[in-house]
Amino acid sequence: MSEAQWWQKGIFYQVYPRSFQDTDGDGVGDLDGIRQRLPYLADLGVDAVWISPIYPSPMADFGYDVADYCGVHPIFGDLSAFDRLVAEAHGLGLKVVLDFVPNHSSAQHPWFLESRSSRSNPKRDWYIWHDPAPDGGPPNNWISNFGGPAWSLDPASGQYYYHAFLREQPDLNWRNPQVRAAMHEVLRFWLKRGVDGFRVDVIWHLMKDPQFRDDPLNPAYRPGEPEVARLLQTRSTDQPDVHEIIAGLRAVLEEYGDRVLIGEIYLPVERLVTYYGENLGGAHLPFNFQLLHASWGAPALARLIEEYEGALPAGGWPNWVLGNHDRPRIASRIGSERARLAAMLLLSLRGTPTMYYGDEIGMENVPIPTDQAQDPWEKNEPGLGVGRDPERTPMQWDGTANAGFTTGRPWLPLARDHATRNVAAQSADPHSLLTLYRRLIALRRTRPTLQLGSYLAVGTAGDVLIFIREWQGERILVALNLGSDPRGDIALPAGETRGRILISTELDRQEPVQGGFWLRPHEGVIVALGEG
Ligand code: GLC
Repeated sequence: MSEAQWWQKGIFYQVYPRSFQDTDGDGVGDLDGIRQRLPYLADLGVDAVWISPIYPSPMADFGYDVADYCGVHPIFGDLSAFDRLVAEAHGLGLKVVLDFVPNHSSAQHPWFLESRSSRSNPKRDWYIWHDPAPDGGPPNNWISNFGGPAWSLDPASGQYYYHAFLREQPDLNWRNPQVRAAMHEVLRFWLKRGVDGFRVDVIWHLMKDPQFRDDPLNPAYRPGEPEVARLLQTRSTDQPDVHEIIAGLRAVLEEYGDRVLIGEIYLPVERLVTYYGENLGGAHLPFNFQLLHASWGAPALARLIEEYEGALPAGGWPNWVLGNHDRPRIASRIGSERARLAAMLLLSLRGTPTMYYGDEIGMENVPIPTDQAQDPWEKNEPGLGVGRDPERTPMQWDGTANAGFTTGRPWLPLARDHATRNVAAQSADPHSLLTLYRRLIALRRTRPTLQLGSYLAVGTAGDVLIFIREWQGERILVALNLGSDPRGDIALPAGETRGRILISTELDRQEPVQGGFWLRPHEGVIVALGEG
């Protein structure tokens, strides 16, 4: 593994650009803001910044409805601001990864405007048009991921078009070679500008059943769940021929060398791992979202890690995601008292870690009053708790007004705790969560075993999760007490007599251990075995 790629060794950090740093006082973050904060990211020690969409967009889904794949929305800046951002990031040793949204465009994209203009338009087939069912209704039972039917009627031409998300987000037809070619050109446009890779939005959606058969009903559906859960999306997503499309994207990246292809995929593990592709020619990193859903106990975590490790194809590189702009923040999900353990787990597991902005200071979900809801999913299905605004609130930089995020009115309200929970306060505190993140990231750099070592399950001792990372003769043990009771009796694994604690989640221990060690409630330690 001495020739490990940067995306194997590195740590990814997701920036939601609307909420990171505003520089022009409009209450929405921008590219100059991200550029201004690059030194913070370099100092934190991450390696790559993934930026959620910055393209021109009507913002029906906050940028995931793209109206021009080769531009920048004026709210974020322009192409020269983007070029400056890439240049400065590279100067600091940071990679830049863009969000690529190929499954659907905005309904305002010129391609769709042409496509819907008439049945005979040359771009008609760039999107998914279908005649009505015999009763005049939608062609099949597919449901939009944001609720409601996934087909909308275009009265002028009498046909329905398919949209896996909002009606403002028509799905492109990836069976059409012209669509593929146009999208490959989009990738080249950004690759030539120096982009280091892409996170591909809903990559498992790209191909649909060619016969458009109904999705089967989900027997496990319970009332109160979002409407999309009524069906199992076995026909509308995850089709066998999607892999050929992904291999095509990957081949474009290969033209430019050392770039990374990340796929957003919400599927069970055995399906997820197929996205490495035949001969690993698919996504380098099919996002592994298990930690976003896991129940936070030692046996459950041990099982899911092993299940994932066991399912990986030979040579497939693992990865772990702790948070993103679509799921509740980790600190809210598992409780802020466990946020430190989550940091240690993410940064000591085998595989590329992806962090979400603000999680390093323990930002929590911010309750958004109904009349201030922005997220279209929340607006479509209010009251179910599907809204994603709570995890998208502005980054908390310091104790000044609006937490240093904006001089204007922030587009989403700031967390109440911003005066105390912020980057400036935690930077000055040697025991803060931010300091823990910095120290864990630094440790991961100085101990390549944590980046590249194999994973050996040791098992669980009650609610303590224990595993070993091993590389070139070095053995590092990780022990995480997920329970609320202290433990005085954690034995070193058989054959090991001594070691040294390199770091504790409490940042107050670095002692040698002999035979065994103790842990406080919610404490984790990383132990170099054999050292003392
Ligand atoms: C992905 C994005 C999400 C977006 C959806 C539709 O899941 O992460 O934010 O709403 O795709 O593009």
